[in-house]
Amino acid sequence: MTIEDFIPTQYSHEIQQGKVTFKAPSNIALVKYWGKKTDQIPANPSISFTLNACATTTSITYTKLNTRGADFSFDLFFEGKPKEDFKPKIQTFFARIEEYVPFLKEYHLKIETSNSFPHSSGIASSASGMAALALCLMHIEKELCQEMNDDFFSYKASFLARLGSGSACRSIEGSLIQWGYHNDIAGSSNLYGIKYPYDVHKVFHNYHDTILLVDKGQKQVSSTIGHNLMHNHPFAEQRFGQAHENLSKLIPVFASGKLNDFIKIVESEALTLHAMMMASTPYFILMKPNTLQIINKIWEFRKSSGTHLCFTLDAGANVHVLYPENEKAEVYQFIKDELVAFCENGQYICDRIGFGAKKV
Ligand code: PMV
Repeated sequence: MTIEDFIPTQYSHEIQQGKVTFKAPSNIALVKYWGKKTDQIPANPSISFTLNACATTTSITYTKLNTRGADFSFDLFFEGKPKEDFKPKIQTFFARIEEYVPFLKEYHLKIETSNSFPHSSGIASSASGMAALALCLMHIEKELCQEMNDDFFSYKASFLARLGSGSACRSIEGSLIQWGYHNDIAGSSNLYGIKYPYDVHKVFHNYHDTILLVDKGQKQVSSTIGHNLMHNHPFAEQRFGQAHENLSKLIPVFASGKLNDFIKIVESEALTLHAMMMASTPYFILMKPNTLQIINKIWEFRKSSGTHLCFTLDAGANVHVLYPENEKAEVYQFIKDELVAFCENGQYICDRIGFGAKKV
């Protein structure tokens, strides 16, 4: 599909008002998206597990205006309270997507949103938040264009979510989502995420992700700034090439379920993301001392127990501990005994692979 496919020509139906609610999950990248061109076109392809527990629920109550507005008309409520400081981000998002959802200025929107995870947990809500918002908008568009099919609905929701926050395009469906053109992956696109189209061994069907909250504060570097640091980065081209290679290497790993190979790729991706930040100008260290303590503990335990837990990181200090269902008792005990002590206020979130957003 091309960008033009997402520009509607004419709507077949009229609708005065309504309300829609979607719950969209977060996701955790295995091969990381880091570096972008304009309009959230990724500099390299990525792939993620869709999560289940960490999610954003968003409702839109829409009311047709008597005349088309000169600007967007919306109110925003976060966890039940008006949230003025979120509005500029939504305004920018609407301006970016207006061409693709031309009905936007014809309605007043009351947007109500909340997260399942605690506020200021250091978990970014932009992926789940933008995905939930995009899905609500797609529901309105489907009311206006009722012949729309389900595939188009999902692709366009992902396409819109991407324009809000790149990784949000991987939060529409589950459970393994690939985004960004890759030679070996049929149907892959820079414009939207797709369900990974090849064999996935059953060991990956119910993977766990326990998120250790090492630092619950505001992110030190916003992802926008972080992505921009990849422009003129001395290792950018090698890194983008490596992401393509790692995705190629994951194809047989997903099929065979060889966890030792999976671990090598996933941990290397996490450390490379952080290495890129350390080698940027200006440079940043996003890990905290406890992040390193946890990583070392994971390595020791993996060696001594023969289990297959591994870690991955986002652009921050929190650690995602990934492990298969059949090892969950042993690994969870280890997390409680050895790792929780390194979390801020002992906080962590038990999540697992999920199946995508849902209409509520
Ligand atoms: O979607 P953004 O612009 O917040 O970027 C997210 C980047 C990482 O989370 C660090 C990696 C990824 O692929 O999700």
